[in-house]
Amino acid sequence: MSKDMKIGVFDSGLGGLVITKAFIKAMPQFNYFYYGDSAHLPYGEKTSGQILKYTLQSMRYMIAQNCKIIIIACNTATSIALRYIQQRFLPEYSPDTKVLGVVIPTVEVATEVNSQNIGVVATSATIRSHIYKTELHKINPDLNVVELAAPELVPLIESNNFEYAEDFVGEYCNSFKNCGSLILGCTHYPLLKDIFRKYLPDVKIVSQDELMAEKLKDYLRRHNEIYTCLGQNGLRDFKVSSLNKHSQKVAQNLFADIPLLKA
Ligand code: DGL
Repeated sequence: MSKDMKIGVFDSGLGGLVITKAFIKAMPQFNYFYYGDSAHLPYGEKTSGQILKYTLQSMRYMIAQNCKIIIIACNTATSIALRYIQQRFLPEYSPDTKVLGVVIPTVEVATEVNSQNIGVVATSATIRSHIYKTELHKINPDLNVVELAAPELVPLIESNNFEYAEDFVGEYCNSFKNCGSLILGCTHYPLLKDIFRKYLPDVKIVSQDELMAEKLKDYLRRHNEIYTCLGQNGLRDFKVSSLNKHSQKVAQNLFADIPLLKA
């Protein structure tokens, strides 16, 4: 059995680097491989067929890069493709690889509040899938889940337009005033979490960069068969399917010393 395998983090673009940063802070010893399918961003406005196709292409590529476990940081890809990957793709293609998503850990944290009302803000495809509502209702069928698609936010964050993003966030927050918690169901939204918190000071804002590292740590603690295959040389390899100056700058702001390369 190989002992130098990597933790893979997948996203449709660069948003997943925020979670990767949290992983590396909590578990710096491991070797990480990041892959952003930026050539096909945004997934959130694509059809389910397109999202599944691009996610599967990415999984094949990441498995070939020696990833033992892959965290799909992209909420849209988790919503549309994770079940297929776990139930159909992996058993045939790579039964020893583990692929996990972000929805279940997020739902676990969101339901820690004592409230019947939970909000979800995400891309159009994630909201259309109703995955958060479905998983929340598995925990408590009586929950009132307020779902809202926010197609404007990803392009505004990608283009560094945080001022306009704030106008939209302010507007969206009116829908969540009565919620006990609000799930930021998109890789990019942790970058807006302070704005959400400003408009909704009494609501628990559930931001995946603050919860996923602990969940992964706990998972690895419970799955020795994966843990023992992971290399612990602190190596990082960050790749995207399409590279431009802007994305290099975004990556550099998060990781000054790790180059972002084209796959
Ligand atoms: N990564 C996507 C998500 O978390 C947001 C960006 C996109 O639409 O591709 O849903």
